[in-house]
Amino acid sequence: MSSAQKARFEGKAAVVTGGSRGIGAAVARRLVQEGAAVAIGYRGNKEAADALVAELGDGGGHAIAVQADVAVPEQTGALIARAVAEFGRLDVLASCAGVEHFDALEKITPADFDHVFAVNTRGQLFAVQHAVAHMSEGGRIVLTSSVSASRAFFGHTLYAASKAAVESMVLNLSAELGRKGITVNAIAPGGTATDMAAENSSNYLHPDLVGKQDPSEWIELGVALRRLAEPSEIAAGYAFLASADAAYMTGRTLQVDGGLF
Ligand SMILES: NC(=O)c1ccc[n+]([C@@H]2O[C@H](COP(=O)([O-])OP(=O)(O)OC[C@H]3O[C@@H](n4cnc5c(N)ncnc54)[C@H](OP(=O)(O)O)[C@@H]3O)[C@@H](O)[C@H]2O)c1
Repeated sequence: MSSAQKARFEGKAAVVTGGSRGIGAAVARRLVQEGAAVAIGYRGNKEAADALVAELGDGGGHAIAVQADVAVPEQTGALIARAVAEFGRLDVLASCAGVEHFDALEKITPADFDHVFAVNTRGQLFAVQHAVAHMSEGGRIVLTSSVSASRAFFGHTLYAASKAAVESMVLNLSAELGRKGITVNAIAPGGTATDMAAENSSNYLHPDLVGKQDPSEWIELGVALRRLAEPSEIAAGYAFLASADAAYMTGRTLQVDGGLF
């Protein structure tokens, strides 16, 4: 890491929801490596969150772990308030918490709909609301969409719709937050090697190909770079949008997908 990169978040404080595992953990690592103090939010995996805090502390960084279910806006508010109490400021919100969902139309229940949207969509809107209350000019908000928001897969309607709403959210919020000098963008990751991807890879296959094709084959054939992303490669996109380098970007969704076609 060059000293110019390290300076990007020196003296800054961030909240990363979904920071215990996968993409969020990689974002927390990257922000701390570049100098930020980070509050890592998690839903239930205290062990993973505590291990990450210890790892980052051993590297000389400053991180805390806070349990908060983003489906309950008051808990997100408490996570953000805790970060501000601990660090004295809030410069960056990286909203990474999310849940996957696959099911055919006839099997989707109102409870499924409410849960997926409560985490992926409502959870992100209220995270922004709580974060903005503590941010000043130069604040940076990065939400999480998915390439699935603009690409069709069998049984992916609910998840894709919950993420497409996020892209519309950043577009519209940018107008309001621009007046405060705060930027709000989203990352749309492509397939990334995390627990979520491991648990769902076969669901991305066309139903006629289940049992006939290895899920890794469509990655090789459908992604220009022929592989899943490493979480750290996606985290680099969040760090860019969270940095001063992205000062003139707002309301946009950045696809980091290895060239999905
Ligand atoms: N992996 C991919 O291929 C991919 C592609 C496109 C978009 N995405 C999006 O990228 C984000 C991260 O995905 P990932 O692959 O890293 O997922 P993951 O490996 O399943 O990790 C999910 C993270 O979100 C947290 N979380 C889940 N529900 C939560 C809730 N209700 N409240 C608070 N935290 C919650 C989990 O906390 P616990 O550890 O406590 O459970 C964990 O930290 C998600 O928004 C996902 O939709 C992923």
